[in-house]
Amino acid sequence: MFYERALITKKVALVPTMGSLHKGHEALLKRSKEIADVTIASLFINPKQFDSHKDYARYPTSIDSDLNIFEQNKVEIVFMPDKNEMYNPNFNSVIKINDLNNELEGNYRKGHMDGVSTVVMKLFNIIKPNIALFGEKDFQQLKVIEKMVYDFSMDIKIEPVQTVRDSNGLAVSSRNILLNKNQRISAQSISKSLKLAIVAFKKGKVLTNEVCKIVIDYLDKIEEVKLEYVTIRTLDTFKEIKSIKGPFVLLIAAYVGDIRLIDNYVFR
Ligand code: PAF
Repeated sequence: MFYERALITKKVALVPTMGSLHKGHEALLKRSKEIADVTIASLFINPKQFDSHKDYARYPTSIDSDLNIFEQNKVEIVFMPDKNEMYNPNFNSVIKINDLNNELEGNYRKGHMDGVSTVVMKLFNIIKPNIALFGEKDFQQLKVIEKMVYDFSMDIKIEPVQTVRDSNGLAVSSRNILLNKNQRISAQSISKSLKLAIVAFKKGKVLTNEVCKIVIDYLDKIEEVKLEYVTIRTLDTFKEIKSIKGPFVLLIAAYVGDIRLIDNYVFR
């Protein structure tokens, strides 16, 4: 479909997705409809952000149901490029937001954050949105995109949307579909451990190693759950801190069986 932002005087919002849509994506689409006149959703499983071929190959797909969800949420345009359209055979560039891209997710999943910033830069340049919406569940991703937009003076407003959880507290994610029944129950312990840590903080624990230890000790007892990292960072600088003095985010990554999940709790 022909589309030219210059011809549209209305506010255009982009909701980038890799498909396999869930309630978290719907929250992004709903927010987009509130703040923009035109919502464009992209659906592209970006090979560059997977650190293993196995993970890429088993990433869930559900195109028919995704297109239905876009339609139900009154998305005006769906951008669904194929791999060669996004990356021509000579494509050889990387957008690297130094420091941020190599930490946490970028450290444990080598190249992951570079893949995200590269594809999002491309999506921004192709679609030229005024606004782009990202879920807080991928908190580091949100920070990377905010920094990229700032550093490259891009005229795009980044709109964060709160994490959506199921009734047991599990943060909704496309990967949840890969969990079997028992693993789904074990996975609930991730958000429970975050809640326990926050309760301890509210009761007066401010040393981050003590707050993180609550998460470590709790998850240690849960079969099938293997903690990868837990860390506390300031909300604005995203730097790791020793003691909590202001707004922060508690971030966690853990394996349930061989499914890797991330979650976080934002304290403003
Ligand atoms: O959050 C995601 O689904 C992906 O990382 C994104 C932003 C669509 C880039 O591929």
